[in-house]
Amino acid sequence: KTIGDLGDLRGKRVLVRSDLNVPLEQTERGATITDDGRIRASAPTIKMLSELGARVIVCAHLGRPKGQPDAKYSLAPVAQRLGEVLGNPVVFAEDTVGESARAAVESLEDGGVVLLENLRFNAGETAKSDEERAEFAQALAGLADVFVSDGFGVVHRAQASVYDVARLLPHATGGLVQAEVDVLRRLTQDPERPYAVVLGGAKVSDKLGVIGNLLGTADRLLIGGGMVFTFLAAKGLEVGKSLLEADQVDTVKGYLERAEREGVEIVLPVDIVAADAFSADAAHDVVPADAIPADRMGLDIGPESAALFASKLADCRTVFWNGPMGAFEMEPYAAGTKALAQALVDVTRQGALTVVGGGDSAAAVRQLGFADADFGHISTGGGASLEYLEGKELPGLTVLEEGDN
Ligand code: 3PG
Repeated sequence: KTIGDLGDLRGKRVLVRSDLNVPLEQTERGATITDDGRIRASAPTIKMLSELGARVIVCAHLGRPKGQPDAKYSLAPVAQRLGEVLGNPVVFAEDTVGESARAAVESLEDGGVVLLENLRFNAGETAKSDEERAEFAQALAGLADVFVSDGFGVVHRAQASVYDVARLLPHATGGLVQAEVDVLRRLTQDPERPYAVVLGGAKVSDKLGVIGNLLGTADRLLIGGGMVFTFLAAKGLEVGKSLLEADQVDTVKGYLERAEREGVEIVLPVDIVAADAFSADAAHDVVPADAIPADRMGLDIGPESAALFASKLADCRTVFWNGPMGAFEMEPYAAGTKALAQALVDVTRQGALTVVGGGDSAAAVRQLGFADADFGHISTGGGASLEYLEGKELPGLTVLEEGDN
């Protein structure tokens, strides 16, 4: 069901689950939001509900606090920014289901918006026990008449505000979740070919499921980032002091063999920026990928690899990218990620569908100076988009297909 199926929402209390988990920098003047992409992506649904005259109760999490209030994870700065993006102030409730939340909801006028404090300040939000989660979900549901699920970045979590609450209130899928699913469906169901997937980031163990699944759907798999060294090791190469998941080498060998059997091209870097320490001012050089010195660590793909990757993307009609190519936060190791982003921009201009998946990758491309509009779609979900591509069932989506109770 979409929001339109919920009937007249004027004066109704609508609980919206958004993903407002944005990166924060703690400064002397308090916390500053370093990338507001998720806030901007969540705003249209909230604005639409407000314009329909609903009393909008937004709930979200920030970081991973341990089930109790922790000031550094407060959503207060997010409420402020959300108000700026909406062009209307947002009331901030200093708790989630307590006195402050109830009072804030009580005083809402039609079209008004309140943001509740971090859901994960309550142990019930992420509890393993069904009863504990259900109890917290009951309290949340008690604040509202209907529920709108719009936090795509959390639909892979079976948590109280994502899963349990949808079973307690009449519910609908928000526009952001709908848009994300529509795009990801185009990647999994008959993507226009050639279809390439670029994977980066530190750990191959986070991506095993998705790699396994992609070997059945993608034509090319381009590997960069820290996980590349486990691939190089699987090919029998020395990787010096680079990040290596020794316990995954055999699994990766299996993937390389399977890819060859199934005609999927796995593209690995041919040169590496190798440094003598994990630091921006470390000594560093470009070395061939098969000659990483024993005392060096790879921190980015080299220029030849960047050109190779760009050439492998140039004729693609569909590209999904998750994870930076190197330690892009440090200027000397940002070139690979920047070149990859540029290659995606170029192929987008030629009409390919390009999807950047993941909060980190999205923040990376913005930090490197690209705009959201340069790409086909920037997904707000990291883990969620990977699990979708993995073919996993996402509890926050399946629950929406159940009828209302
Ligand atoms: C994310 O950042 O991927 C989502 O907000 C989910 O956060 P989590 O991994 O802490 O559940």
